[in-house]
Amino acid sequence: MHRPSPRPLVDLPIRRLNRGDLVTCADLCEDRGWPRDEHRWGLLLSAGTGYGIDAPDGRGLAATCLTMAYGPGLTAVGMLLVAGRYARQGVARRLMRHVMEAEEGTPLALYATEQGRPLYEDLGFSAVGGAERVGGRLAGGPDASSSAVSSGSSVTTRPAAADDLQAMIRLDLTAFGADRTHLLARLPAFSDRLQVAEDHGELVGYAALWPSGSTAVVGPLIARDTAVAQALITELAATTDRPLRIDVEDRHKELLGRLAERGLESVSRTTVMTYGISDFPGDAVRRFAPLTLATG
Ligand SMILES: CC(C)(COP(=O)(O)OP(=O)(O)OC[C@H]1O[C@@H](n2cnc3c(N)ncnc32)[C@H](O)[C@@H]1OP(=O)(O)O)[C@@H](O)C(=O)NCCC(=O)NCCS
Repeated sequence: MHRPSPRPLVDLPIRRLNRGDLVTCADLCEDRGWPRDEHRWGLLLSAGTGYGIDAPDGRGLAATCLTMAYGPGLTAVGMLLVAGRYARQGVARRLMRHVMEAEEGTPLALYATEQGRPLYEDLGFSAVGGAERVGGRLAGGPDASSSAVSSGSSVTTRPAAADDLQAMIRLDLTAFGADRTHLLARLPAFSDRLQVAEDHGELVGYAALWPSGSTAVVGPLIARDTAVAQALITELAATTDRPLRIDVEDRHKELLGRLAERGLESVSRTTVMTYGISDFPGDAVRRFAPLTLATG
């Protein structure tokens, strides 16, 4: 009997993902050895745009990609995943081309894994920086309490309140360089803890702690300087029993050094890459860690 030959993977339709796809997105993460992260996918699919290719064998998704738009000046790209059984057959390349066409010239930014980087280079992205993932349990130290941000410092940290949101959005805009209101407004519900740092009543930093698998992730982390960043991490770490994970922008050597001294170990590295823009906008000095690698 004649059997129709299977449709080539590169011809399969690309469709929009929605919250009904959460479990199959998580299955795909698991397939590639990533945490399932349904919680994170929930945020990403409600605030961003998900693209997917249904697996021709009927077993969930063959591939995903996510874009997070920040107005006309920047879109972050992330969650590019292809199921292991469909790897190296051009699926990621096709999905990325589709996403780039859909973005119609909007500058793009992403954090590339080692596996993803060659494809992005081929598609015209340039490396502009890096991030180092550190993880583990944070040991106490001389600065382990917020009252000791540095001796004589007037910086204090406390849990964020509803009326901090406007000041957080203003601070975030200068550091990130694009309006993230749609994500920041979701942080109180998404995070286990949202902490702000103040100096004489002025907001000088904020950070969130959210669950991913068996770890607690710190991000975003926006702070005036290393001491404020460290105080925020210390306070957040004290609220959880889980090991921490942070993707620290690797220009922040001082923070990375201090976290290493306190027991956090290097886990992996990603490369920050852009397309259509020479660098990430905003103030790199105050941007310590992204919310997630998929959102910037
Ligand atoms: C990275 C990933 C999405 C690539 O998917 P894919 O469908 O296998 O990629 P393609 O077949 O479209 O290959 C495109 C190019 O990427 C590169 N590439 C793909 N897989 C690679 C790997 N394992 N190691 C090094 N380069 C790789 C190659 O340059 C390849 O081109 P070539 O096959 O002509 O040499 C997939 O390996 C994956 O899901 N990895 C785990 C999750 C991840 O790291 N995602 C990237 C997030 S930034």
